[in-house]
Amino acid sequence: MIVVEGLRKQYRSGEQPVVDHVNLEVKQGEFTAIMGPSGSGKSTLLNLMGGLDLPDQGTVYVDGLPLHTLSEKRRTLMRRRKIGYIFQNYQLLSMLNVRENIAFPMSVDRCPKEEIQLRVQELVKELGLKGKEEAVPDELSGGQQQRVAIARALAMQPKVILADEPTGNLDRKRSQEVMEILLHLHRKERMTIVMVTHDLSVAGYAERILLYKDGRIESDIRQKEGDMPRVLEDFLAQLQT
Ligand SMILES: Nc1ncnc2c1ncn2[C@@H]1O[C@H](COP(=O)(O)OP(=O)(O)OP(=O)(O)O)[C@@H](O)[C@H]1O
Ligand SMILES: [Mg+2]
Repeated sequence: MIVVEGLRKQYRSGEQPVVDHVNLEVKQGEFTAIMGPSGSGKSTLLNLMGGLDLPDQGTVYVDGLPLHTLSEKRRTLMRRRKIGYIFQNYQLLSMLNVRENIAFPMSVDRCPKEEIQLRVQELVKELGLKGKEEAVPDELSGGQQQRVAIARALAMQPKVILADEPTGNLDRKRSQEVMEILLHLHRKERMTIVMVTHDLSVAGYAERILLYKDGRIESDIRQKEGDMPRVLEDFLAQLQT
């Protein structure tokens, strides 16, 4: 579903690239977490995978399409239709209410009004936002705001969800709620999910964990439920020192 080939990104010449010839394949339906030290380039990698940023070298294929050789216009279109993005700080539009925020990508894509209405209704129900349709983001808790953001990410029925620290601003209970939603998408709808997180209990929901350091994937771990491999323990211990 996602193929990353020879991807490289350097912000300043002379410095170590933050994405340093990364190759990666993410299969349809896979739930992957990326962990690594602050500043190691995780968000940059995710942004490149989502077409939010341009690489110096290499490319990313999403559902077979080479993201970075498309024209700006086609890339924008593809991003909107195939990729759902979730951010740590939700990034909702503060002037729009819940309904309008969820509908936003569909409105921009000029979907028929009735179709938008139906989809929004469905998502409001699925994400437990009933009764909050008219509220603006400021009137919602963090957990509710993130659920609106997830609903918005799902509005266009994307092939892939990319999530950058989706629980970074939430307490344990709200984090668990958000992760249960992502887990449900993965298990019941075979959604392909790539998520960056600092939190091991959050990464534990994924079936595959990539350890990222100095612009490279250091380890690629497939974990069984409730089983933390040695390499992950060592990596985390290293992060704490
Ligand atoms: N737009 C930018 N311009 C210049 N430098 C940038 C830019 N974005 C990120 N960087 C630098 O690139 C490096 C990697 O940043 P990135 O945000 O990808 O790291 P990260 O692994 O996501 O970190 P964190 O865990 O703190 O979110 C950092 O040193 C950062 O300062
Ligand atoms: Mg980051």
